[in-house]
Amino acid sequence: MADKQITIGVLTSGGDAPGMNAAVRAVVRIGINKGFRVIGIYRGYHGLFKEEFRELTAFDVRDTVQHGGTVLYTARSKSMMQPDGPARAAEILKNHGIDVLVAIGGDGTFRGALAIAKCGVNVIGIPATIDLDMACTDYTIGFDSAIDTAVDAIDKIRDSGTAHERISIVEVMGRKCGSIALWCGIASGAEEILIPETYDYNDKALIDRIKEREALGKKQHIIINAEGVGDSEALARRIENATGIEARATILGYMQRGGSPSALDRVKASLMGEQAIECIVAGRMNRAVVEKNGRIKDMDLEEAINSTKEQSRDLLSVSKNLVRH
Ligand code: F6P
Repeated sequence: MADKQITIGVLTSGGDAPGMNAAVRAVVRIGINKGFRVIGIYRGYHGLFKEEFRELTAFDVRDTVQHGGTVLYTARSKSMMQPDGPARAAEILKNHGIDVLVAIGGDGTFRGALAIAKCGVNVIGIPATIDLDMACTDYTIGFDSAIDTAVDAIDKIRDSGTAHERISIVEVMGRKCGSIALWCGIASGAEEILIPETYDYNDKALIDRIKEREALGKKQHIIINAEGVGDSEALARRIENATGIEARATILGYMQRGGSPSALDRVKASLMGEQAIECIVAGRMNRAVVEKNGRIKDMDLEEAINSTKEQSRDLLSVSKNLVRH
C-alpha cells in the first residue's frame, strides 16, 4: 500500500507582520511540490476552534508575496488560553486529518503550538513578528519592513519638528522589547532612545540633556520612545513643562505592521517556509525555524521558547555614543 499522504495545516496568528504571506506561500508551494496536502486555517487559533479550514492550491497563493497583512487573516484567541484549549485544538486538527501544524507568528503563537504538540499533534513554528523579541532567533519576519516604515515616518516628523523648532516624541511598537526603538533611533539620528531594557525613568537626566543641547543651539529633538516604556503623551507634557519648549507626541501604531514587505522579509520568509517543509520531509517534528549567525535552521520548539537573550550590546553602545553628543 502506498504511504499515506501527509496533510499540513498552516495558520498565521497574533499580530500580523509584513512577509507572513511569503511564508504561507512557501509552505503551500514547497509543501505541494514535496507531495503534501496543505490546508489553510483561517484567523489563527481563533479560526481553528471555529474550524475555518480550506485546502490550498499553489494557485491560491499567487499574487500575495508583495502584500502586507496575511491572506489567512489573523486573530488573538481567548479559547486557546483556556486550560482545555490546546487539547480541544489538537482534537480538531486530528479530526481534520492534519498531521503537522505549521504556526506562523510570535512568542504567543509558539507557546500555543507547543501546547498543541504536547496534546499529540506535530507542529513547526515559523517566527513572524515586527517586534524582534524572540530570544531563539536573530531575525523575525516583518521586523525589517516595520523599521523601514517607522524610519520613513520619523524622518517626516523630524522635518515638521525642525520647522517648528520643537521636541518630537515618537512612540514605536515592540511590546516589552526595545529592538524597534533602538534600530529606528539609530537609523533616524534620534537625540534620545528610550527602551524598556535600559531606561531608568529618570526624567530629570533626560530633561537636563535636552537643556544642554538647547544651550548649544539645538532647536529640535527627536526622542524615540518604545511602547514598553510607555505614555508618550504624558512624557511630552512633562518635558514641555520642564523646558518651556513645545513638545508633541506621535504614536506610530499599526502603520508599523502594514505596507508592502521589504525584499529581505520576502526572501527570508520564503527560506523559513522552505525550512519548515524540510523539517517535515526529514521527520523532524516540534521544531522552531530560526536564524542564527546568518543561517536559517531549526531547533527544538520547547528549547526555543525557553531561550533568553539580552538586548544587543553593540546596538546599545552605538546608540549611546551617537545620541549623547
Ligand atoms: O506584536 C506585535 C504588536 O504590534 C506589538 O508591537 C504591540 O504591542 C501589539 O502587537 C499590539 O497588539 P494588538 O494587535 O492586539 O493591538
